[in-house]
Amino acid sequence: MGTPAPSGPLGYGDRLQLTGPKGRLNTITLVPGGEFHSHRGVIPHADMVGLPDASVVVNSSGEEYLLLRPLLSDFVMSMPRGAAIVYPKDAAQILSLADIFPGARVVEAGVGSGALSLHLLRGIGATGELFSFERRDEFADVARANVAAYSGAAPENWTLSVGDLQDTLPAVCPDGTVDRVVLDMLAPWECVDVAANALQPGGVLICYVATVTQLSRTAEQIRRSGLFTHPQSSETMVRGWHVEGLAVRPDHRMVAHTGFLITARRLAPNTVMPSLKRRASKGEFSDEDLATWLPDLAGEASGDEVWTPEAMGERPKSEKVLRKKVREARTLADERGAEAAAYGGDTDA
Ligand SMILES: C[S@@+](CC[C@H](N)C(=O)[O-])C[C@H]1O[C@@H](n2cnc3c(N)ncnc32)[C@H](O)[C@@H]1O
Repeated sequence: MGTPAPSGPLGYGDRLQLTGPKGRLNTITLVPGGEFHSHRGVIPHADMVGLPDASVVVNSSGEEYLLLRPLLSDFVMSMPRGAAIVYPKDAAQILSLADIFPGARVVEAGVGSGALSLHLLRGIGATGELFSFERRDEFADVARANVAAYSGAAPENWTLSVGDLQDTLPAVCPDGTVDRVVLDMLAPWECVDVAANALQPGGVLICYVATVTQLSRTAEQIRRSGLFTHPQSSETMVRGWHVEGLAVRPDHRMVAHTGFLITARRLAPNTVMPSLKRRASKGEFSDEDLATWLPDLAGEASGDEVWTPEAMGERPKSEKVLRKKVREARTLADERGAEAAAYGGDTDA
């Protein structure tokens, strides 16, 4: 048995996707003496070995099957999952936003099913090093098996440590030796300090979270740590298109939500972010504002008064401006012939 090859003629050890006459997909691994059985026929694995990728073979009843090596994205979408995976659209963004480069030293936590680990290993290449951390044994086992299934063996440049990132990272990576830290976990804000210690100045921290509550909390912790540049947040939506003849339109279905990405760069030691060159507004977020949302990041204040338009990032409008807007709206209504009664009747505001 060989190691799966990414290209060239098909060989033993390769994983293959076989698409049958009805479009059904079957994934197999080529082994000496193996056979692919469907209910209507058989294909010996030996018939597929030596063929170019993307060939067609015929089974014992004359049915045609298309053979394709799965792409990395095909593999991660079909591999066994212990925990929810990072989808290929987000993995691609992570590689780009975190600037994962060949030779990079990257820390990743948690590992979950290993989907993101596979993309990171691809990005760092043979000369990089990936240090992955997972606190649950059984998830680590799933990830190890998935990475081995894809790569043919455990990659030599991959270290998977079982334990909480906060406890285990300092023992594995000395301070200031890591280029990138990628966090996909429930509470990334708990790991901001340990990630900052591991990162070199200029290194990238990227966090993937599923909800806006996590997004807000993570961004605020990064900002308040004073150890990073201002965090940048985004989400990625990919809408497939059906393009066939004159039927050219967006697909009816899409994966509408997966998660948000938050990125920031590690500042050099003893460096303070220069204040932004913008006028301070009354809407600056005070500790009291944040207290209801992020109690352990702010003071003790609570109560309804903190949910003000300013606290929610809205620019307050003066009474004068509001009166002007009312006049403008009523002029528009008059121009369109609306009855005064339709907008409240009082026209001399
Ligand atoms: C959503 S899964 C990660 C999925 C993974 N990125 C993938 O693409 O397959 C989140 C994982 O983080 C682990 N985790 C949560 N907090 C952690 C921490 N502080 N240290 C290490 N692992 C942690 C969980 O056990 C879980 O397996």
